[in-house]
Amino acid sequence: MLSNFRFHHIGYVTDSIEHTAALYLKAGYQATSRIEDEIQGVYICFLTKDGFPRIELIEPVSEVSSVNKILKKSGVAPYHVCYEVDDINEAFDKLVDEQGYIPLFRPVEAIALDNKLICYLYKKEIGFIELVNKD
Ligand code: NI
Repeated sequence: MLSNFRFHHIGYVTDSIEHTAALYLKAGYQATSRIEDEIQGVYICFLTKDGFPRIELIEPVSEVSSVNKILKKSGVAPYHVCYEVDDINEAFDKLVDEQGYIPLFRPVEAIALDNKLICYLYKKEIGFIELVNKD
């Protein structure tokens, strides 16, 4: 973790964005339209409500999607916290080289986040984190 991280969203894996989002909509959340991220092989939808943390719903497009393993193991569940950083490459290097995080891949564009750069990292004591570049 870095002291200049800013909370961005909690990522949920789900087998149905439609079914999960419906319950949040009843509680006053707003949902963005569902976007397909072809790089990750997933559908993505963001849920927002004033004063509440932003939630990302992630649904596998097919059996080969990266999140299937997590969905099979955990069921529908939150599985990553995303933090915004000013310089994703600098943050990536610090976390990997100095703090021992395991990268899932180097920063790539994310269509559901206006093509901002994102990456995922894992550390046993923390679980999965995602980084998103400021712009
Ligand atoms: Ni995310």
